[in-house]
This record gives sequence, structure tokens and C-alpha cells, in this order.
Amino acid sequence: MAKLNVQDLDVASRRVLVRVDFNVPLDAEGKITDDSRIRASLPTLDWLLERGARVVLCSHLGRPKGRPDSAMSLRPAAQRLSDLLSRPVAFLDDCVGEKVEQTVKIMKDGDCLLLENVRFHAEEEKNDPAFAKRLAACAELYVNDAFGSAHRAHASTEGVTRFIAKSAAGFLLQKELRFLGDELANPARPFLAILGGAKVSDKIAVIEALLDKADALLIGGAMAYTFLRVQGIPTGASLVEEDRLETSRRALDLAAQKNKRVFLPLDHVVARRVETDKLDKKGRKIVEFQEVHITDCASIGEGLCGVDLGPNTVAAYAKAVATAKTVLWNGPMGIFEDKAFAKGTFEIARAVAASGARSIVGGGDSVKAIHKSGLADKITFLSTGGGASLEFLEGKTLPGIAALAEK
Ligand code: 3PG
Repeated sequence: MAKLNVQDLDVASRRVLVRVDFNVPLDAEGKITDDSRIRASLPTLDWLLERGARVVLCSHLGRPKGRPDSAMSLRPAAQRLSDLLSRPVAFLDDCVGEKVEQTVKIMKDGDCLLLENVRFHAEEEKNDPAFAKRLAACAELYVNDAFGSAHRAHASTEGVTRFIAKSAAGFLLQKELRFLGDELANPARPFLAILGGAKVSDKIAVIEALLDKADALLIGGAMAYTFLRVQGIPTGASLVEEDRLETSRRALDLAAQKNKRVFLPLDHVVARRVETDKLDKKGRKIVEFQEVHITDCASIGEGLCGVDLGPNTVAAYAKAVATAKTVLWNGPMGIFEDKAFAKGTFEIARAVAASGARSIVGGGDSVKAIHKSGLADKITFLSTGGGASLEFLEGKTLPGIAALAEK
């Protein structure tokens, strides 16, 4: 059944609670370093405000463990949103309570208010019904535009819908579902999925689901080492999930049964990982990489660990990407945070952008790589979802979407 959409609502002069995902990265001074998620909410907010809705926004930021933490305040997001909307955005230092009730009562048509981080209350993540009811009390209608949080059954994403007359999907949510859902269900072929990241365990369900839809899988990042180990290839001191070897073997068998090609690295950038006595700002031991070099084959020598794709792998992956009509990419190809090991990820970003395929990129790091390379306008769709897009691609029902009213 199709869900109710924001455009199905009569919003003039109504108080509309909009759940957005303003979980944006902040630097040490509390400045927003990437406002993509705020920008992504603009179509819904513009639409509502132009129609005279009284917009009350709520979101989480970070994981503050159920109590106020000024380092995770949404106040900087209110300022940024105000700049982007070119209209004032009021901010309240709580998301429930008398002050909120009094403020929403005097809101006028076209007013916009951002509430403080919902996770400053432990009840949010517990999906506490009483808290959800208090949150719902500030509005007559509810719009969920927080795709990035739709996999969380929390009070502001799920519980709140039980206490509000109508709950609908915002434009961002609709767009995410269209690209990650409908488009990938009927993709132009060949459809290639590029998966990276540290752990097989995070991606195995997606890999299995994609074996039904995609024509080939390209694997990078540390999870590739677990797959190589399964094939008996030495991986040195690389990150390998010993408890996932069996699952990884099953995934490769399944791919063979379905006649789907799985590309694994042919060579690597490797290094010796040395833990120093120096501490970083968070008090963790600083790790240095020494003896950095490129291997001439897929195997990795003793004591060395893989940190990025090697040049032959990049060339092979780029060649495969160039033939694709649809590309889905999630996860970095190496230790991309370190400039010295970011080449594989950036080269893949360039290959995806140059392919001319319909391209869908999800997951924080791959999206960051696309932005950093200045290639965002060459990508068909950049998903705002991390965990949410993975769970959606796995075929799971996302509670934040399931809770919305049917059309
Ligand atoms: C995300 O960044 O993936 C979403 O905002 C969800 O955040 P969470 O993993 O802290 O629930």
C-alpha cells in the first residue's frame, strides 16, 4: 500500500511536526562541516512554508546518551537552516514541555521552529509512548523526512505517529524510496554494485540481497580481506573477521550459483601498522603506517595489512564500472580518512561519475568522497542514509516508514 505523502496534506495554518535528520558533522568549535542533510530537507520545508504551514522541526544529533550535552546541540543547525531558507528559524532549548507548548501556540503561518535534540531525553530511543505523546502535542500533522533515521523505532520517528491525526512522507523520504527501491528493483543493465567498508558483518545481508538484483559485485575496503582469506589467499595482518568466514564463503557460493561475478582486489596498497606511545585528542594511541608499498598480487605478506586498493584493482574496477548502466556504491575502498590511502576510493568515485550510468551513492564515506572530488553533480542520486539505506537495501521494513499512514 502506498503511504500518505506530504503533498496529500492540507497544511495551511496547521502546525506540522517535521522529523528531519539533521545529524550533521560538527567540528571542535561546533561548526557544521557538511550541511547536505539540512539542504536535503529544503524541498519539504519550502513546500510547507510556502503553503502557510507552521513548521515545527525535530531531529537528533549524535548519541548523547539520553541527557543534554551542549556539544550535540542543534542550535548551529537552526542558524544554517535559516540561511538556507532565507527566513528566520526560531530555536528552543528543549523538544517537549511548557515552553514548547507556549511557543507553538503563538506561531503564525509560515513560521519555522527547530526544537532541541530529541536524544537529550532517554525516552526518545526507548520509544516511550508518554514522551511520543508529549512530542505529538505540539502539532496537528506529522511529516517524516528523516530517511537517515527511518531504521530507528524511536519516539520521534515511530511512536509519535500514534498520537497525531495524519502522518505522511516528506519529499526526501519519497525520493530515497524511489531511488533505492523502485529504481533498483528495475535497473537498466548491467547493474553493478560496489561495496566497501571495514566489516563483512555490516554488509553481508546487503550482499546477499544484491545478488538477486545486481549483475556483478565489486568488493573493496577491509571486508575484501575476509573474502580473500576464504579463497585461501594470505592476508597478512589485515583486518579479517574470523567469525564471518563461513558466511562469506556462503555468499561467494551463492554468487557462483546465480552466475553473478564478484570482483575482489587483485593487488593492494599495504603497510605495517605500528601502535605508537603518542596519544590523540581522545586519549587513544596513535597508529602509524610504515613500509607502505604496492603488492604485485592479491596475497599480502606476513605482518602487513591492506590499506587501499592497488592500481591493477582500480583499473579493473574502473573498466567494469565503465560498462555499467546502473551503479550502486556504498562504502570506502580503503582507509580513506588517511590521505595516503584514499586513492582507491577517489578513483572509484571518478569512475562512477565518468560512467554515465544511473548512479546511486549511499553511506557517509562514499558520499564524502564524491563531494570531495567535486563530482556530486555527476551522480544521479546521493542518499542521505547510512544504516537506513543498508537496512532498506537488505529488504528490511524500516519502522519510520511502516508507521506512516496509508494513502
Ligand atoms: C545516521 O547518521 O546514520 C542517522 O542519523 C542515524 O544515526 P544513529 O545511527 O545514531 O541512529
